[in-house]
Amino acid sequence: MKKFLIIANWKLNGNLKFINKNINLIKKNINNSLSFCNLSIAPPYIYINYINNFLKNTSISLTAQDVDIHIKGSFTGETSIKMLKDVGVKYIIIGHSERRLFHNENNNLISKKFILIKNNGLIPILCLGETKEQKAQNQTEQVCIQQINNIIKNSNINIFNKTIIAYEPVWAIGSGKSADIDKIQKIILFIKKYISSLNNKVAKNIYFLYGGSVNYSNIETFFKTNIINGFLIGKASLEIQNFISLVKKSDKLISLLNRS
Ligand code: PGA
Repeated sequence: MKKFLIIANWKLNGNLKFINKNINLIKKNINNSLSFCNLSIAPPYIYINYINNFLKNTSISLTAQDVDIHIKGSFTGETSIKMLKDVGVKYIIIGHSERRLFHNENNNLISKKFILIKNNGLIPILCLGETKEQKAQNQTEQVCIQQINNIIKNSNINIFNKTIIAYEPVWAIGSGKSADIDKIQKIILFIKKYISSLNNKVAKNIYFLYGGSVNYSNIETFFKTNIINGFLIGKASLEIQNFISLVKKSDKLISLLNRS
């Protein structure tokens, strides 16, 4: 059985004090205590290596919040895939709506990142989702498929094998209001069917995460379907005690589902 994957996306938050206070707490409470979930932490770049030293030989992995498309050279301010590999990163988030919005990242650039990550043996987490305006115009499916097609056009469908797609409606991120479970299920099923029509085996090997205002109080909702294979969590991953409870609660909810 696939393990449920929970990613804590700390975005541009935290400092050494926060990490020193919390990383051992996470390790003590989470390491080897989960039966059905895996946890990964996505800190700001500058702390990745530091945290890696704490997490070595644990079941908790590291995620990067982005990557550059260049391997090395005169690209001031950037971080390459080889560097991320060097410091123990397993997953890389790309196409997050905040990068699309604040850094003008487009589908083409994100395609290049996706292919680069895959070809270097790490796992891309491709974020997809509609804005409020696109939602109002019923463009959700179109928006998601456009991004997927762009990647296929620059490579081929096999590039999606063993990767992760995070459905994150832009309007739900940080808003305190998550998307309706029926809508989430509908769009993930749509994406899955689309990929399946191109390659059934590849579609089966993709993890689908949901992200957008997931918190301790609303996680039950997302377990009403088994189409979601994990969460990408922003705000609620910063309150560490609550976050640990959320992760443990998820593990417990899955164990109950498995028994029934
Ligand atoms: P949120 O962020 O949990 O604060 O809504 C999710 C994300 O941006 O991935």
